[in-house]
Amino acid sequence: MTSSAVHSTEETAGRAPPASGEYIAPAPRVSVQAFCETAETAAAVKSAGEDRRLGKVHLTVKMGGLAAAIEAYGAMPTPNVILLESEAGINILAGLDQLATVCDPGTRVVVIGSEHDDAPYRELVRRGVNDYVVGPVDTLDVVRSICGLFSASEAVTTGRIIAVVGAKGGVGASTVAHNVAWMIARDLALDSVVIDLDLAFGTAGLDYNQDPLQGIANAVFQSDRPDTMLMERLLAKCTDRLSLLAAPATLERVYDFGAEAFDAIFDTLRMTTPCIVLDVPHQWLGWSKRVLMSADEILIVAEPDLANLRNAKNLLNVLKASRPNDRAPLYCLNQVGMHKRPEIDVAGFAKAIESPPLAVIPFDSRMFGTAANNGQMIAEISAGHRTTQIFRQIAEQLTGRGEFKKPRGSFLSPLIRKLRGNRAAERRRAS
Ligand SMILES: Nc1ncnc2c1ncn2[C@@H]1O[C@H](COP(=O)(O)OP(=O)(O)OP(=O)(O)O)[C@@H](O)[C@H]1O
Ligand SMILES: [Mg+2]
Repeated sequence: MTSSAVHSTEETAGRAPPASGEYIAPAPRVSVQAFCETAETAAAVKSAGEDRRLGKVHLTVKMGGLAAAIEAYGAMPTPNVILLESEAGINILAGLDQLATVCDPGTRVVVIGSEHDDAPYRELVRRGVNDYVVGPVDTLDVVRSICGLFSASEAVTTGRIIAVVGAKGGVGASTVAHNVAWMIARDLALDSVVIDLDLAFGTAGLDYNQDPLQGIANAVFQSDRPDTMLMERLLAKCTDRLSLLAAPATLERVYDFGAEAFDAIFDTLRMTTPCIVLDVPHQWLGWSKRVLMSADEILIVAEPDLANLRNAKNLLNVLKASRPNDRAPLYCLNQVGMHKRPEIDVAGFAKAIESPPLAVIPFDSRMFGTAANNGQMIAEISAGHRTTQIFRQIAEQLTGRGEFKKPRGSFLSPLIRKLRGNRAAERRRAS
């Protein structure tokens, strides 16, 4: 392909994403108490507490800075993390010495200072300060600092979760998820796991030509918290770097889950797996909503029709609103150019959604049908094909890898030309 079918996420997101390629791993279930000096810092800390990455954190925000902290902890035990805003001009080192006398040894301390602080960083570290952030801070500074206390200190991988969901049923969301994950594993050499969350009807086992497996069902229905050993046992190896947590795809039982049913599975897997691709069925339930809300990246797959457009827009709106500190979800158009089907053109779709698609995948029943029947990926049956390149470029964009050349001219022009050409041909035939 040509650079015209996949677009850099910087253009796509519509607003500046967090620093490019930046990945902030979620914080574990810890307690954080903040003592702020200014209303602005208190507001930033409160809004950080609403970020998905601090979803498990129990956060309280008080005013009064270092002095209030010293007073408070004289009478009560210290939490896992204390966040202190220090006022310019106070003797922060003396204050920290005093705090040390009432602070439990395991407590981590973050200081939000100002550029006028004169205490050397070395001295702060000597007093047990784990992180020092120069104010004024914004929401993401606080999220980054708290999460960084844990991800840096534990020798574990903190895998990135990419959720793929269809704007409607049957649009090809699973097909896209499986092909993109396969590309991430092969071309980007990232160890990856695909989780088929469509327990009743999932097709990942068929698409990767794996024997029927219980995978995800065994993990989600067992009463103990799944550990790494169990997860390793449940994974089916598809390629060198790609494994599958397959759906049973049987109907002996129903699959009603609580909203947090998959949390422990994801937490365990991300300790050992750099990239986790979720094949999320087209449903809006407590658990599926939570899975999308808490993913690191979201890809919505849509076909170019009205219902898909409405649903994609609704999904984008609700996900953007609840993830204000994240890059906006991305979307791609699939099955574009189906013979004789009236379609919303790409430009019109992009205009209504208010951002261009990450990629436009052409309709090709022969190629996709052959791949599905053989249990193979598009790259395996059509290595040099344009669609293979599109999947690779989606993989690069979702993992924050790979350089993108800016398309020459408008990325829509070839498609518009094609669609208009088709319409002109139809008119000629009709007249
Ligand atoms: N670009 C394409 N061109 C032609 N056929 C396609 C294309 N993409 C997917 N398909 C086919 O569309 C069908 C549905 O795909 P898939 O199961 O991936 O959709 P889905 O959105 O996951 O559906 P469900 O809602 O059932 O989970 C499959 O037969 C697949 O091979
Ligand atoms: Mg599916």
